[in-house]
Amino acid sequence: MDVRKELKERTAQAEAVVERYLPEESGHQKTIFQAMNYSVRAGGKRLRPLLMQETYRLFGGQGKEIEPFMAAIEMIHTSSLIHDDLPCMDNDELRRGKPTTWVKFGYDMAVLAGDALMIYAFETAAKACGMVSGEAAGRVAAAMGLLARKTGIYGMIGGQVVDVELTGHPVNRQQLDFIYRLKTGALLEASMMTGALLAGADQARMKLVEQMAAAVGMAFQIQDDILDVTGTQEQLGKPVLSDEKNHKTTYVTLEGLKKARQDVEELSAKAVDLLHQLPGENPFLEELVRMLVTREN
Ligand code: IPE
Ligand code: IPE
Ligand code: MG
Ligand code: MG
Ligand code: MG
Repeated sequence: MDVRKELKERTAQAEAVVERYLPEESGHQKTIFQAMNYSVRAGGKRLRPLLMQETYRLFGGQGKEIEPFMAAIEMIHTSSLIHDDLPCMDNDELRRGKPTTWVKFGYDMAVLAGDALMIYAFETAAKACGMVSGEAAGRVAAAMGLLARKTGIYGMIGGQVVDVELTGHPVNRQQLDFIYRLKTGALLEASMMTGALLAGADQARMKLVEQMAAAVGMAFQIQDDILDVTGTQEQLGKPVLSDEKNHKTTYVTLEGLKKARQDVEELSAKAVDLLHQLPGENPFLEELVRMLVTREN
């Protein structure tokens, strides 16, 4: 398998799915549609919809109801980035190689575009209801609940709360792990668990998927911290040294670069190991998980 080629193709497919669910830019509230679409279309790796789809395939999923959920997770993720970049949060001016939403559309529209994408994500996911019947309908309902929980106060938003609250204060490893598990891990858990759930995975396997995605999430955020120090703006499409600017405690400031790199490798190996404990095979998914260690953007 030519992984790079495969990744490019599947990313383009995921992108096309997301695109199909974006709102049309017309009507009196046109500005909000433009701000939402600008932020989603700016690019990004589309990692969450990819992980969702590949986990769905791992468990033998073949339906179309995964597609509104793929679009939904990318909308939720993008909404989190819009708010994360606001002056009252990380105060960053570049995202996905473009001016951040608040720079382009103003603070007011950026706040609203973040809110709008988050709720439109659920409106979008709900479209899966009309695509299934019988047992699958129950799974769609459960997936919407899962998505909400992992996005909200027990998930991504909860993590961002502690992240901003502890900015500028001493943070210990336990607190940092909590923040990372929620602010970043939760949406990766939602991605992979939604794929598994919609494909009909049982409780025990859902638990394994959650653990695997948690390892992926932790590795992903540590690598994000590493790249904030070692990357370039061109490579990342966002400013470097943002964490230092904001006086944030990160995995790198707490543990050092060397251990941070080792731990990304260990967590990625753990995720692959958990993947091997699941039934079915998906070599592409395995490659995707392994790439977390080597990713440069
Ligand atoms: C950035 O996520 C925010 C974090 C959770 C670290 P990504 O690195 O997936 O951002 P995009 O979607 O590719 O822009
Ligand atoms: C991002 O953490 C977490 C969420 C957006 C939920 P960061 O603040 O480190 O993400 P980047 O570096 O701005 O992408
Ligand atoms: Mg942040
Ligand atoms: Mg940030
Ligand atoms: Mg970061």
